[in-house]
Amino acid sequence: MEPAYILKWHQEMGIVDMTASSPVDGFALKSQILKKPANTSKPVAAVQETAQPVMAADPTKAVRPPSDVALDTRKLADACKTLDDLRDAVHSFKGLGITRTATNVVFSDGNPNSDVMFIGEAPGADEDRQGIPFCGQSGQLLSQILKYIGLSRDKNYYITNSVFWRPPGNRKPTPEELAACHPFVEKHIALINPKLIVLVGGTAVTSVLGKAGGITKIRGTFFDYTNPYVDHNIAVMPMFHPSYLLRSPGQKKYAWEDALKIAEFTSSSAR
Ligand code: URA
Repeated sequence: MEPAYILKWHQEMGIVDMTASSPVDGFALKSQILKKPANTSKPVAAVQETAQPVMAADPTKAVRPPSDVALDTRKLADACKTLDDLRDAVHSFKGLGITRTATNVVFSDGNPNSDVMFIGEAPGADEDRQGIPFCGQSGQLLSQILKYIGLSRDKNYYITNSVFWRPPGNRKPTPEELAACHPFVEKHIALINPKLIVLVGGTAVTSVLGKAGGITKIRGTFFDYTNPYVDHNIAVMPMFHPSYLLRSPGQKKYAWEDALKIAEFTSSSAR
């Protein structure tokens, strides 16, 4: 068989790590994964005991097939009172195939007491190896953009994903994976209780707002968001995913516009 064909087949199956430019000792890295950040037990602002999500942003376009696995994660999420509870629940959940193929659970990074929460798509290969969201090439671009507006991860933002495990071969998360993680995402938002949620890329828009497609039209727009665990509206704004910006550098001007909107929001909400 052609070596190129075999290589492509491996990549499609998600076996990409052997093709990295330098060797990686996955076992050594796994033992270095960051410990839980301190001071993560900020109480939930308020818990609204409703069975259905309440989405100000076009609930008619919800893309959330109900499934047994999503019912399981709903029960797990319902029981979480603190961020540590949620982290433990996510770590203990094994109901999706990706929980077994991933090297690490990628839960979150940054300051849990921040006013701004970024939600991306799913971990990539670097994130899976290190257990840290947005630590690879696209994450570095995002950090750089945010640094220009004075936001640093350790001080003033919190970052997570719509899915906590790497889908093999960096494929997009399936609707079932998004639906299964959705209760965790909702509880995550409630426990962080940010003033602004930034949805990084179209998959996060689908996960959080239930809107499929069309990020080009809605990026830079503020929506009101709430969910069953939150008793008030939270501002939410979609922006382009940095991996898209890496592929289409001409679109970076829009990311810059959106970054300025984030800066404006954070400076006016701090007053
Ligand atoms: N892309 C994402 O959406 N999330 C990550 O953590 C890394 C890349």
